[in-house]
Amino acid sequence: MSQPSLRGSLWRHYGQTRPFPPLAGPARADVLIVGAGITGLLTAARLADAGLDVLLVDAGPVGGRNTAQSTGNLYAPVSRMADLVSRWGSGVARRVVQWRGQSLLSIEALVHRYDLECGFSRVPMQYGIQQRDAEATLRFDRELQAYQRAGLRCAHHPFGLPFALGHSFTIPDQAQLDPLAFCQGLASRLAGRVRIHAGTRVATIDAGAGVARTGTGDTIRAAHFVLATHSPSGFNLVQAEMEVHREYAMAAPVAVAPAPGIHWIADRHRSLRGGTGADGRSWLVLVGETHRAGETPVADPGLRLVEDARRHFQLQGEPIIWSAQQFRAADRLPYIGNSAHDNVWVATGFGPDGLGWAGVAASVIEQGIQGVHQEAARQLSPMRFTPLRSAGGWLRTNATVMKHFIGDRLPRSSEGAAESLPAGEGALLDIGGKRTAAYRDDAGDLHELSPLCPHLKCLVQWNGHERTWDCPCHGSRFSATGQLLEGPASEGLSPLAP
Ligand code: FES
Repeated sequence: MSQPSLRGSLWRHYGQTRPFPPLAGPARADVLIVGAGITGLLTAARLADAGLDVLLVDAGPVGGRNTAQSTGNLYAPVSRMADLVSRWGSGVARRVVQWRGQSLLSIEALVHRYDLECGFSRVPMQYGIQQRDAEATLRFDRELQAYQRAGLRCAHHPFGLPFALGHSFTIPDQAQLDPLAFCQGLASRLAGRVRIHAGTRVATIDAGAGVARTGTGDTIRAAHFVLATHSPSGFNLVQAEMEVHREYAMAAPVAVAPAPGIHWIADRHRSLRGGTGADGRSWLVLVGETHRAGETPVADPGLRLVEDARRHFQLQGEPIIWSAQQFRAADRLPYIGNSAHDNVWVATGFGPDGLGWAGVAASVIEQGIQGVHQEAARQLSPMRFTPLRSAGGWLRTNATVMKHFIGDRLPRSSEGAAESLPAGEGALLDIGGKRTAAYRDDAGDLHELSPLCPHLKCLVQWNGHERTWDCPCHGSRFSATGQLLEGPASEGLSPLAP
């Protein structure tokens, strides 16, 4: 299989994106929202309804990077309910399910209000395992109990898959949509009330002065700044509290798709959904295979998914493969609210459950800007201090940072290796006594970049499956030739003089 450097999702493959112009010249607003994925758009919709003047910008197209790479599954629980209950208790788990359920309702309301053509439908969610051994059964029982303690109605009705499950339960009334079509449709409907600019990167924010500056030097004055950028760009304390993972997905036309619904096979770490594509064919979407950002395995995770899909489904066309980034909070609750500055709002740490948290973030931030502090705002505050609930995740995150900050700097002998670097490959090499992020393009030209991530100076690592440089410390990613793909870094890798 060919290995393009950036692999677009099923939604990007079929979706049409309406162009929004870049910002040209200075601007002023009540609220500047940075990031036009689902979190930014839902927040903009709520603030516009409240009568505030909103400016929404994104460095890329509307739909964001990660929203358009998601599965489009909307569900009230989180992906590991037993873990949530054991860390926080069933009271908090219940509230989480209620907040996420309200988020789903608010998205559904927008679909109907604006008549958005995004394939929204209510579907059941199935949680299952394939194995029946005692250990798997015990884990399944714990998860079932956690769902029930969180107030979810669970029924034993396995459905819609071409393979047997050892144990399963379903919950009704969850939902699915095409996340890119939702964002594009909502942006088009908001365009009269919210100023939306794609292709506009915010380089700096001076919260005290109430002014942001774009990459092209334009100033934007605002009373509030919302960083709906998946991970807040620049330095933010929450970055030390999050593990960063990449997760892969594949989609292909199939003879018979899974029945409509969300199918989570926990012991094999696979999520499946079916659907009908814009071409009228039945499609399978299969998600799984995670690894830490910057620690890409040798075997292509996307190809492993395709092999897995072929075992159970008759694929009828070339698969589409893509991946997405996940920021997982150390204590398993996202960070939503303001931290260092009262007028800077962040929404991050959504883990694999992002679409549902987006609506919670929009509500908390909109209400917070209006001076109303919900219970969710207190629980999800980025300023919370939860050492016992965070300990494992915090230790793992910072051990990873130290390993890559120090270990990757230890000298290695690779002089002369640049000549033998094949086309399409990259590697960290010592060239002329300098540690170099070296990439040879398909035409045979060698690109020599500084391997220092501009965020906090960890060494980036080569991801050969996606032809990117990925930072293992906090998840910034760069193209093979050094352009910034996603933060928290706010600029690309520097070229090294030949
Ligand atoms: Fe923080 Fe690279 S993302 S050092």
